[in-house]
Amino acid sequence: MAYYFDEPSRTFNEYLLVPGLTPATCVPAAVSLKTPLVKYRKGQEECPLTLNIPMVSAIMTAVSDDHMAVALATEGGLSFIYGNQSIEDEAAMVARVKDYKAGFVTSDANLSPDMTLADVVALKEELGHSTMPVTDDGSAHGKLLGIVTGRDYRLSRMSMDEKVVDFMTPRDKMIVAPADTTLKVANDIIWDNKLNSLPIVDDDDHLVAVVFRKDYDSHKSNPNEMLDDHKRYMVGAGINSRDYAERVPALVEAGADVVCIDSSEGFSDWQKMTIDWVREHYGDAVKIGAGNVVDADGFRFLAEAGADFVKVGIGGGSICITRETKGIGRGQATAVIEVAKARDEYFKETGVYVPICSDGGIVYDHHISLALAMGSDFVMLGRYFARFDESPSNKVMVNGTYMKEYWGEGSARARNWQRYDLGGKKKSLTFEEGVDSYVPYAGPLKDNIDVTLLKLKSTMCNCGALTIPEFQEKAKLTLVSSTSIVEGGAHDVLLKDKTPYVSNTIH
Ligand code: XMP
Repeated sequence: MAYYFDEPSRTFNEYLLVPGLTPATCVPAAVSLKTPLVKYRKGQEECPLTLNIPMVSAIMTAVSDDHMAVALATEGGLSFIYGNQSIEDEAAMVARVKDYKAGFVTSDANLSPDMTLADVVALKEELGHSTMPVTDDGSAHGKLLGIVTGRDYRLSRMSMDEKVVDFMTPRDKMIVAPADTTLKVANDIIWDNKLNSLPIVDDDDHLVAVVFRKDYDSHKSNPNEMLDDHKRYMVGAGINSRDYAERVPALVEAGADVVCIDSSEGFSDWQKMTIDWVREHYGDAVKIGAGNVVDADGFRFLAEAGADFVKVGIGGGSICITRETKGIGRGQATAVIEVAKARDEYFKETGVYVPICSDGGIVYDHHISLALAMGSDFVMLGRYFARFDESPSNKVMVNGTYMKEYWGEGSARARNWQRYDLGGKKKSLTFEEGVDSYVPYAGPLKDNIDVTLLKLKSTMCNCGALTIPEFQEKAKLTLVSSTSIVEGGAHDVLLKDKTPYVSNTIH
């Protein structure tokens, strides 16, 4: 006979936190958001990979590329680069994150010597940059021959046909710095010589990057940065249970710090086979997350299979229609609560703490607090990050409002069949499990995440917690009735600012 869970499965919106005593020492500035990313023997050893903030970005084409990874690692979180691309392209994205040096920009406005003043003007209009290196082949890494800035030409006095080579500042009159220059030294050179930019060149005089004076303030180091032992940004990468034998080595070679099997449903032999393969070839040196599951059985299966962390959530994502198409899933709050309990039981039995990640369905900032209070060690977000400048999707104007495109990995647009693969021979997506959509554009990641984290810390203080484990221990959660949800919003007043989307936006 079929098994019935006793209680209806519930969503984050059905819970609130009840405050506990806030000691005078418990202020947001004193709160630590550090949290384990991978399994360890709690109480006996340090977690080998710890997040500085409990947020990771979703393994999605519209969310996590190398730009997002750098922006999020700067703030203390981690991106999982999307796996729905060729192995070479994904590995290249990982490598770009590992090679990234804050403040060192790969120039996108480059000239070759035989280009004309008209080309310079057009490029400036297109990209908005007035500093343009001149290289032998006009590429960002060609041999450096000179530079053109606004000081090198006067439109009123020159012909538009004039060649770049005739008015650029030539290489022998330029100040440059070698490839191993640190940001601090580069900035000193810029200040000492009153420069606006400093080209960085390798031993063969090929352009490597440019450091700009204006970027100085924004590249002071962030205390939360997620850095590896070599001071490089940390990054994760999505894999699937089809081509792992080729994909994992390429990602490891590129420098991925952790991989995660990206699947809509993770309680499967294919996930175990993938983990087995990683263990056989890399032992514990390669960290691998698995999922997604929504109950204790699924968690235990993946924990016993050797997963380093387990993702929780099916069908709760903003772009997901798995529950509608297949009738599979569970309310996210109930799934997290049950899996957290299973994680704690597994820890008691084995001494191994396997972190869990609540994936999908975070609509408001306070949902992050709820997910953590319910036992998640960290959360994965798609919609939240898709709204920012750093996400790879297009920013478009819809009915007078800026939006970013955001689509599910199971949508016809993504066609990520490996994510929904059930071991058959067919390599295509037969039916959709996600939609293509817009989300309101929200500006730079940093501005938004600062507010989100301050809210989280403030909530934790209300519950008397200075750390996430303490929060999980002390949190008191209460179910809310539908009328108390109405009571919790602004009500019985006429709102002055009634902008559409306000109530749907994370804020
Ligand atoms: P949010 O709510 O943060 O959810 O936008 C992101 C998570 O949703 C999952 N995901 C999908 N689930 N169909 C699904 O059923 C899809 O097309 C799809 N694409 C992504 C995924 O777990 C992600 O992290």
